[in-house]
Amino acid sequence: MESTVHRVLQADSRSLAWAGRGTADLVVTSPPYPMIGMWDALFSRLNARVGRELSSGNADKAFELMHAELDPVWRGIYAALREGGIACIVVGDATRKADGLFRLFPNHSRILESCRLAGFHVLPGILWRKQSNKPNKFMGSGMMPPSAYPTLEHEHILVLRKGAVRHFSTAAERSTRRRSAFFWEERNLWFSDVWEDVKGERQTAGAGSPRVRSASFPAGLARRLICMFSLQGDTVLDPFAGSGTTCLAAAECARNSVGLELEGQLALIARANLRGAVRGSRNFTSSRVQSHLDYVAECERRGRNLGYVSSRYGFPVTTLQETGIELPCASSTAESDDGTVTVDYEA
Ligand SMILES: C[S@@+](CC[C@H](N)C(=O)[O-])C[C@H]1O[C@@H](n2cnc3c(N)ncnc32)[C@H](O)[C@@H]1O
Repeated sequence: MESTVHRVLQADSRSLAWAGRGTADLVVTSPPYPMIGMWDALFSRLNARVGRELSSGNADKAFELMHAELDPVWRGIYAALREGGIACIVVGDATRKADGLFRLFPNHSRILESCRLAGFHVLPGILWRKQSNKPNKFMGSGMMPPSAYPTLEHEHILVLRKGAVRHFSTAAERSTRRRSAFFWEERNLWFSDVWEDVKGERQTAGAGSPRVRSASFPAGLARRLICMFSLQGDTVLDPFAGSGTTCLAAAECARNSVGLELEGQLALIARANLRGAVRGSRNFTSSRVQSHLDYVAECERRGRNLGYVSSRYGFPVTTLQETGIELPCASSTAESDDGTVTVDYEA
């Protein structure tokens, strides 16, 4: 397997100077969420009018101004993606009192509309359900109708495509696609429209972070999206890189990556985190193999005969499409003077 290259740049993703046209195969990202309190300061820094509207209690105006700072990024990722490339945007809605009244600010639908206007085709998305045991998760008037509200225990994963479906015209491309396939039972879990098995990330930021809470999404979520929507050797872009979860997941799954992050300290943390690619890749690959072997054992117990054999591993698989799967295992990482990280893989 060839080596991959990872760059996390300190950059403002509203400016498109960074975005090579058609150079990204997949975007996996999560923006700062408008109207969630922890991002008020950042949006006010990006546009001073946001702070003024919030202080004056003009919540709808502030909501719109915050999204106006994100809109250029959605246009930017559209330009950066290749034809047939996919964008996955993880975003939660916000609840907040405005003028003393409890309201929901629908970030997911505002972003979806912006992406549609940028030219994206909207594909079926995923609800990422993060069930909470907190006693205060029910909001509103307790047991008295009508002003009690459903709990907000999910985020949205918006899935979008640029243009027509991607084509694989050469023999080499088709071979990489077969190597990058996923198991039948993974397909059944990953392509369900509600994810309940991906736990939220611990939100304590590491030393040197400019924020108290990390706002990271789980590595498992990024890895899964990358395996679902890209091939080994592809390039994954994250215009809101944070601590670099997407870039690390790309390295673990043998994809290249580019991350853009406004905060210089976080860009450095993201680069340092890439050193974990060897351990992460081994763990991910061995857990996928183990889960598959558990599935095979379960089928055998039930007397179900799987019809095909993996050419690389020799174990049974359910379909012809799975016979060429090869799971990558990172063997080493190296950082060059300009901060680029190269990852090598076992043959
Ligand atoms: C929700 S966090 C992303 C966290 C990331 N997914 C992770 O796992 O660490 C959003 C990130 O976008 C960054 N950001 C906000 N506006 C930006 C901009 N215009 N350009 C680049 N980065 C930006 C913030 O500093 C923050 O780190």
